[in-house]
Amino acid sequence: MTELYETRRYLTRFDVHRVPNLFVDVLVIGSGVAGLRAAIEAARYGSVLVVCKSRVDNSNTAWAQGGIATVTAPTDTFEQHIADTLTVGCGLCDRRPVERIVRDGPERIRELIDWGGIFDQRGRKLLLGLEGGHSAPRIIHALGDATGREVANTLIRVARGTENIRVFEDCFAIDLIDVEGRCGGATTYHRHFGHQIFWAKHTILATGGTGQLYRESTNPEVATGDGHAMAYRAGARLRDMEMVQFHPTTLYVAGAARTLISEAVRGEGAHLVDRNGRRFMTDYHPNAELAPRDVVSRAILSEMAKQDATCMFLDTRPIGTERFRKRFPSINRLCEEFDIDVSTQPIPIRPAAHYMIGGVWVDEETRSSMPGLLACGEVASSGVHGANRLASNSLLEGLVFGAVAGRVAGEAAQQDHSPNQPRPVHSDISPSTRTMLDVDDVRNSLRSVMWRNAGIERFGPRLTETAEIIQFWGQYVMDKLFDDQRGWETQNMLTVSRLMAASALKREESRGAHYRTDFPELDPRLDGRHSVCQRTQDALRLEFSE
Ligand code: SIN
Repeated sequence: MTELYETRRYLTRFDVHRVPNLFVDVLVIGSGVAGLRAAIEAARYGSVLVVCKSRVDNSNTAWAQGGIATVTAPTDTFEQHIADTLTVGCGLCDRRPVERIVRDGPERIRELIDWGGIFDQRGRKLLLGLEGGHSAPRIIHALGDATGREVANTLIRVARGTENIRVFEDCFAIDLIDVEGRCGGATTYHRHFGHQIFWAKHTILATGGTGQLYRESTNPEVATGDGHAMAYRAGARLRDMEMVQFHPTTLYVAGAARTLISEAVRGEGAHLVDRNGRRFMTDYHPNAELAPRDVVSRAILSEMAKQDATCMFLDTRPIGTERFRKRFPSINRLCEEFDIDVSTQPIPIRPAAHYMIGGVWVDEETRSSMPGLLACGEVASSGVHGANRLASNSLLEGLVFGAVAGRVAGEAAQQDHSPNQPRPVHSDISPSTRTMLDVDDVRNSLRSVMWRNAGIERFGPRLTETAEIIQFWGQYVMDKLFDDQRGWETQNMLTVSRLMAASALKREESRGAHYRTDFPELDPRLDGRHSVCQRTQDALRLEFSE
């Protein structure tokens, strides 16, 4: 296949002499848990700027319900949490980063509590929930089912109160700047201030996930894979881009957003049933509703297909209505909004894209393959999640590796005494001759094709077709010079979808979140072997690690 749209390194034209240039020690792109925690740490060493394309609290973090997995109970052990993470990761986790998040977790949580974060407690004891894949209850939570909101609010409060940190909202990072192979910061667009260049001694990418690439998604509008695409254009290495986690239970009401119904609800005892009230997960896995997410998602699809049904149901009555309402107040409110009375009715659900496991490859200190660029949180591939992420490990990873990234970037920037001056970098691409383009139509079509062909179940010929469709749309979209966020996001979405489809096609086996109907078994020859994508010499290089 010809690589027609691979040639463009930057999405926009710019000339450093014609735009405002600003200088900072550490630039953080993204304001979820990882970005904010990184910013707070980096601010101990120097100046920090956080840019986020929407409001500071509009992130996947703020939407997280279930909680944070961490070892606090006297009967629980680090070894058990490590073993659970490795088991769910299906032979693709790297042990050392797993050990790090598990062992550093309790300290990061204590710190959040010291900063005013409030987690649900009885007496002085943190209350612990259970989720799929965990051998013990170890999920701490806040306001019942609004853990992410509490974590985000706490970190935002600390960041806002830290003198060295400035936060720019509504500021879209377009591209990472390349100064002779080293990341020098980013080009950005602010809806009031226009184009700017932020030069940084170190840049931390914390842009989160890619959920909006799928028609059905638990993610907010902002999750369009911008960081993945920016890093790819800049030549950084990306890894495991076929690994997308689908969440089994999101509200299925026509016209409503696919809002998450936390796995913790199943952890408390809710059953998955069909329209006749028959519990079906016991037919699929010994852990029934608490089987790994990929197993539960596929079981739901299989029942939907067998019964020609548009959804399955989550029956919360085994929990007890009063207990459910107390433990999950936000989910209960959501149900009430749609006239679902959980005391008499099960909740209609179906799976949706939830978490991007693949991302920018980083070493144990969060350094990417591009000097000067670090990555943490969902955009990064730290090796923690392998082929499937253990429930509630993501906020934990963001906290732990956010702190690592902030320290590494801050320390390095402190040693860097180079003068603050713009480097001779420019982009002089010319606009395409094609003009009219319905960007929303491209986005919607892309999201549908990704859901159909690169979703919970994949099939080689369908993935090939997807790659061809993306290539075709790319010819019209990728050479266009946009001057708004929606256009750049669409270019990013096409770039990332293409990497996902190509990686999914290359992995001819089923492992964790990646299920190929034409290769339904795990291939032991691919144990520990990651797919690695990189943009080199205007082409995509995709291979398995040794
Ligand atoms: C949930 O509450 O089910 C989501 C938690 C997670 O994805 O880790």
